[in-house]
Amino acid sequence: MTVNPFEIKPVTFEKTVSCLSSIYPKPYRKEEVDPYTKLRIILMNGTEYEAIWFSHRFFRQCNNNDLRRSLALLRSTEQQQQKLLSCLKPLNESILETTIGYEHLAVDLTSTLAKREKNQYVKAALDFALLEDFDHLYRYANLLEFDQGIQAEKLIGKLAEIMPGRPTVAEHRFPADDVKNFVDFNNADMLTKLNIAIITAAEQQTMNYYMNIAQFYSNDLGRKIYSEIGLIEEEHVTLYGSLSDTNKTFLENLLMHEYNEAYLYYSCYQSESDSKIKRIWEENFEKEIQHLHTAAQLLRTYEKKDYLEVIPKPEFDDLLVLSPSVDYVRETIKNTIENTGNNEGYISVNELPKEHRFFDYNNRVLGNVNEAPTHIIIDKHIEDFGKDYRYEVKNYPIDGLGDRKCDNTQIARIPSKS
Ligand SMILES: [Fe+2]
Ligand SMILES: [Fe+2]
Ligand SMILES: [Fe+2]
Ligand SMILES: [Fe+2]
Repeated sequence: MTVNPFEIKPVTFEKTVSCLSSIYPKPYRKEEVDPYTKLRIILMNGTEYEAIWFSHRFFRQCNNNDLRRSLALLRSTEQQQQKLLSCLKPLNESILETTIGYEHLAVDLTSTLAKREKNQYVKAALDFALLEDFDHLYRYANLLEFDQGIQAEKLIGKLAEIMPGRPTVAEHRFPADDVKNFVDFNNADMLTKLNIAIITAAEQQTMNYYMNIAQFYSNDLGRKIYSEIGLIEEEHVTLYGSLSDTNKTFLENLLMHEYNEAYLYYSCYQSESDSKIKRIWEENFEKEIQHLHTAAQLLRTYEKKDYLEVIPKPEFDDLLVLSPSVDYVRETIKNTIENTGNNEGYISVNELPKEHRFFDYNNRVLGNVNEAPTHIIIDKHIEDFGKDYRYEVKNYPIDGLGDRKCDNTQIARIPSKS
């Protein structure tokens, strides 16, 4: 049965307000939790974060206090939702263990979205950043074993492989080369609009997380790795943020945000295995129905537009179901590992002219590539353990990144012909 969220009767605003005790939940147990439950929690925490900051930006650009009061009401409950989700993380889960969840989400969410994306331009963006987050997972996993003796495959339940992607040192691009064309939402599939909204919020959450926790990591190398990878997350948020239709009004955007939240909570509810967490998804879905109907009402009142003009087909047809993407990632590595950004497109680094701004910028940021923190951690791991940390189901898919005793800092950064 397909669900149309506009046909569900909303609860009142009062019913969406929680008391303090109910926004401090019993955390999951890190030893037992389904890795995808953890990923859904990270995803929805990031989605709430986006809802809140979008609302603040709207609020500050808005000169109508009635509308500003409505936004404040909505936002207060988004905050309550975010508080509840963030404290599902248990006390004994470290910054770095949580980080493995962030990058695992980036890998399996991005590939899940890429696989269902029909717009080839949007799919190319997803494929492009996928290989970069895939590499981040590998670098952090090496830090995890090096610092804490924990194997990341246990945290991710062997749902994804852990091995190099496009090496992080090759990801430092001239910032203008992450700015892509925006998609015309009037002629786009609902799923394309959702995919862009979902991935932008998720990458933004990762960016924010690294912005806030790099300094709390317990040693210099770890702090440097967070800073280096954090710069790449800025690139990813630019990349994905550029795809969103710039011609939509704040109120149209608000409606899309609420619709996306409702869609995601409903998707989480349908795929959740933990009954307590499932109940949380359900309760939050009910809150989002209230938000969605409020947003539709605000759009009608202030812009005289019907929600169908923004969301012509509101039924939830394809729900988001996170799933392993081992083969998909391997294929993407084979086809696009050497790509970099070039204005609004992508190009193999082997085809870039020598004087392309990529090379100068990349060298400026790295200084000496051998001192790049994401490279040093692999070197140190090899020194101590005899090889890097990986979890592979079979041989590495291409030449150049299969050697576990030497970290390749050239591929996708230096043209292979030269
Ligand atoms: Fe929300
Ligand atoms: Fe990442
Ligand atoms: Fe990312
Ligand atoms: Fe909401």
